[in-house]
Amino acid sequence: MSLIDAAREVRENAYAPYSHFRVGAALRGRSGRIYKGCNVENVAYPEGTCAEAGAIAAMVAAGETELIEVAVIADSPAPVPPCGGCRQKLAEFGRHDVPVTLATVGGATLQTSVGELLPGRFEASHMGRA
Ligand code: THU
Repeated sequence: MSLIDAAREVRENAYAPYSHFRVGAALRGRSGRIYKGCNVENVAYPEGTCAEAGAIAAMVAAGETELIEVAVIADSPAPVPPCGGCRQKLAEFGRHDVPVTLATVGGATLQTSVGELLPGRFEASHMGRA
C-alpha cells in the first residue's frame, strides 16, 4: 500500500465532531513499516491532537524513532500544510531531506520536505549539545 493510500484509509477513522475536518497521516519508518494516525478532537478544544502527532506516537510506540517519508491528506481545497507544532514534531524524527506529500481527497498533491516545512528549526545543537 502506498503511503498516501494509508493516510487516506486512516482518515476515515478521524474523530472530528467539532471542526468536521478529518485528517489522515502516514509515516514510513526506517524499517519500511508504515504508521498511521488521524486527528482526535476533544470537547475541550486544545486537548485535541493532530493526525501527524498520532502517527508519530504509533511509530515511537512500535519502537522506531526515525521516519523516512510522510504523507498527509484532508478534504481541503488545497493540500493542507501541517501546523507549526506538527512541523516541530516531524523534525524531531525526520532529517531535513525527508519527503513530505500533502494531498487532498480530490487528488491534488504538493511535494515538500521536513526541512522546507521548518527552516531554522530548533535543534539540540542550540542548547550547546550534540
Ligand atoms: N489538523 C491535523 O490533524 N493536521 C494538520 O496538519 C492540520 C490540522 C486537524 C486538527 C483539528 O482536529 C482539525 O484538523 C482542524 O484544525
